[in-house]
Amino acid sequence: MANVLTVSIVVVFFCLCACEARKLPFLAAADGICKSVVETQGYPCEEHKVETKDGYILSMQRIPATRSGDKPNNGPVLLQHGLFIDAASWLLNSPEQSLAFILADSGFDVWLANTRGTKYSRGHTSLGPNDPAYWDWSWDELAAYELPALFQYVHDHTGQKLRYVGHSLGTLMALAVFSQHKLLNMLKSAALLSPIAYLGQMPAQLAKAAAKSFLAEGLYWLGLHEFVPGGGAVAQLVEDICNRTHSNCSNLMAAFTGNSCCVNSSKIDALLEHEPQPTATKNIIHISQMIRRGTIAMYDYGSQAENNKHYGQASPPVYDMASIPNDVPLFLGYGGQDMLSDVKDVQTLLNSFKDHDADKLVLLYRKEYAHADFVLGVNANEVVYDPLMAFFKVH
Ligand SMILES: *[C@@H]1O[C@H](CO)[C@@H](O)[C@H](O)[C@H]1NC(C)=O
Ligand SMILES: *[C@@H]1O[C@H](CO)[C@@H](O)[C@H](O)[C@H]1NC(C)=O
Ligand SMILES: *[C@@H]1O[C@H](CO)[C@@H](O)[C@H](O)[C@H]1NC(C)=O
Repeated sequence: MANVLTVSIVVVFFCLCACEARKLPFLAAADGICKSVVETQGYPCEEHKVETKDGYILSMQRIPATRSGDKPNNGPVLLQHGLFIDAASWLLNSPEQSLAFILADSGFDVWLANTRGTKYSRGHTSLGPNDPAYWDWSWDELAAYELPALFQYVHDHTGQKLRYVGHSLGTLMALAVFSQHKLLNMLKSAALLSPIAYLGQMPAQLAKAAAKSFLAEGLYWLGLHEFVPGGGAVAQLVEDICNRTHSNCSNLMAAFTGNSCCVNSSKIDALLEHEPQPTATKNIIHISQMIRRGTIAMYDYGSQAENNKHYGQASPPVYDMASIPNDVPLFLGYGGQDMLSDVKDVQTLLNSFKDHDADKLVLLYRKEYAHADFVLGVNANEVVYDPLMAFFKVH
């Protein structure tokens, strides 16, 4: 029980599970993702470093050829993982089941992002992870600085427009950016898996309770700027929330994200033993604000005066999903068992796309799929990635 709790908050909002394989044998110490999970499967791999305008130094991996060494001819695709995990999440199943390998073998030039603060992206031009200022960001900054830096880098290196695949938080970043009409000049099309924009309908009682109990704010005021999901303070708070809400916390991943139909159980066990990736406490607070209010807006500093200082207005500016241009090719994959990207919330998002060009919006609904299945499902290759690639062939 204690063990499960330790890893549990992992899933507080929309991580797909504790699947960052920090301690898996094949992801040993200082090796980096290329060495530990890509080259071991027989694929070529390059490590890249990308600097953002706000000074973060991110690692990115590129799979520049098929397993048999053929050069890609279908153009670059950028994969952006969700919360509490990193690029390894796209690479954990067999090459026939993992999206990154499937894309490489289908002739795409695959680029894998790793969000600031995760294991291989902890560099900064002037700050270190021990500085509170290093953690002074939420997904607003991922949208404003991080995604633009990644797009620009891939675009500069390949001279081509990008396709994009985001999961969970990776969809939120993209939706926020596209709603401001940014990066569209470098974008060919985007596939959004377990899309996150509105969180007001979330049925995950535990996640809601965590958001409402000001879990993250508590940590913030305790001075914990780095939110380490397996960390002692976080585990205590989760246990407390489980107790107070009388939740059955024996399967926390399911309690937070929904029951996965198709994740390889022998992998879950292994994954749940591994500590997940940290994020900024401020990021968790921002997400909590979305759950409480059901809106998609910038970080709320908590007072009119503070908001005025940051935004020149009393309340945080809203990201207007309806202003995403109607001709941006979008593929949305969502699941009936997903408790973070709830069907009702996805419907709210789709309502803002009601004028979208019909041939530029492809929806894929899987009744049996939960959050993690879109990345780790053993049959995702057939039920999600085949249609996704058919979409990429057209767009
Ligand atoms: C939660 O309840 C269990 C069993 O009743 C108890 O052992 C544990 O100390 C409680 N944890 C917290 C944080 O209250
Ligand atoms: C809690 O869930 C576990 C597994 O999901 C189950 O075995 C157990 O009976 C449940 N406990 C209660 C009190 O419902
Ligand atoms: C589940 O994972 C194990 C261990 O990696 C592997 O041997 C097995 O083939 C996997 N099962 C499926 C259905 O992919």
